[in-house]
Amino acid sequence: MLGAFLCLNCVFAQHPKLSLDLQEAEWFKEAKFGLFIHWGLYSILGGTYNGHTLPDPSLPQGESWYAEWIQMRLGIPDKEYRALAQQFNPVNFDADQWIKEAKEDGIRYFVITSKHHDGFALWDSQVSDFNSMHTPFKRDILAELVAACKKYGMKYGFYYSHWQDWEDPNGALPYWMPKRSDADFEKYWQGKSLPQVKELLQKFDPDLLWFDTWDEETHITEKRRDELIALVRANSKKCLINGRISFLNPGENIDFLEMHDNQYPDKILSKPWQTPATMTKSWAWHAHDFNWKSSCEMLGYLVNNTSKGGNYLLNIGPKPDGSFPAAAIRRLREMGGWLYANGEAVYGAKPVPLAVGEGIFLTQKEENGNSYLYISISNPSGKIDLPIDAKRIGSCEVLETGQPVPYREVKGATHIELPKEVFPITSLIVLKAKLTGKIPEGGSL
Ligand code: GLC
Repeated sequence: MLGAFLCLNCVFAQHPKLSLDLQEAEWFKEAKFGLFIHWGLYSILGGTYNGHTLPDPSLPQGESWYAEWIQMRLGIPDKEYRALAQQFNPVNFDADQWIKEAKEDGIRYFVITSKHHDGFALWDSQVSDFNSMHTPFKRDILAELVAACKKYGMKYGFYYSHWQDWEDPNGALPYWMPKRSDADFEKYWQGKSLPQVKELLQKFDPDLLWFDTWDEETHITEKRRDELIALVRANSKKCLINGRISFLNPGENIDFLEMHDNQYPDKILSKPWQTPATMTKSWAWHAHDFNWKSSCEMLGYLVNNTSKGGNYLLNIGPKPDGSFPAAAIRRLREMGGWLYANGEAVYGAKPVPLAVGEGIFLTQKEENGNSYLYISISNPSGKIDLPIDAKRIGSCEVLETGQPVPYREVKGATHIELPKEVFPITSLIVLKAKLTGKIPEGGSL
């Protein structure tokens, strides 16, 4: 008997379950709006080094705005980059303030770069000394943020660069640098990447892990991908894993798909998914990146993604002193204000598989036995035709004010003309229509 038990145990050890219970992703599917943070040593430079500011087309690899890539883009020697650790002293960093801000702005989950490609960790890692404890700041940033997330009931996760690591002598490098041999990469994999992920799981119990590869990935074979998934599953019963663990070959066991940077699908996807998105062109703080998107544009992406079953993970690059840029806060607060009044159409809302015109986004919900359709409109003409039988609509109103909105049947479709009063309210108007019957299985009206 004992023999049989031991044997079963060893089968389990050899083939750990790689998939997570689908239920664990429910919160993610409902949350819709996350905050992404890129913050690390690169933030000190703010996109400029030695008189060169990104993008700098005069340099062979200088074409990118991404300030977190500055070390490789501008070819900063390893020693000089490492020395930045002695300048890392973000005296205005206040974890409580960050998470409180996020909470008040309608954000439902928080993801921070625990370690980006430069290899510098924002926690007290026993695996590598290249971390925030070995700086004048001497603080475990993740520990403080996790405590604040718990206080405010905010789900939290970590970006972890499992593939690129420019500090480790065997970590992967950008494509224009020499490629590591597989045996060397394995040393990094076993010596830093896997142990740090284990440390993150055991120390902080995250709700999700955000791994990063893209089209040109090398070294992340199926075997390594599954080894990493198995490690996460062995240490957590809830931690979600994103598709960029292996962008081109994520397999069946990841929990949600991660789009390319700032990419917005135009159709409903069946797996949970999200778009990582920037407010400017860079992810990390870039003092000369003035390409700020408006809050209205960003709300449009959030609503678009919600209507296709996905999430919007919006990024801020905090400044070297640990504060959020004022321009980022203003935008977050505007979005939070809009969500305060219209969040009903976003959080927990499901997509509607109907083709509608440009600038119109549909979501739906069942509540207390009633079915509702939400129509988010950024179409300035204010005239819309929905391919829905008008008899299916029992009432229609502007969500944030309750103003009734007339609708009628025109050629088998429902024709709606927005009342003129709505236009000064906002450029993204949401209508709430109560349906006369239940939404059929599958969600199609
Ligand atoms: C890319 C970049 C990286 C950024 C990420 C966010 O993978 O390499 O700098 O963190 O996209 O989506």
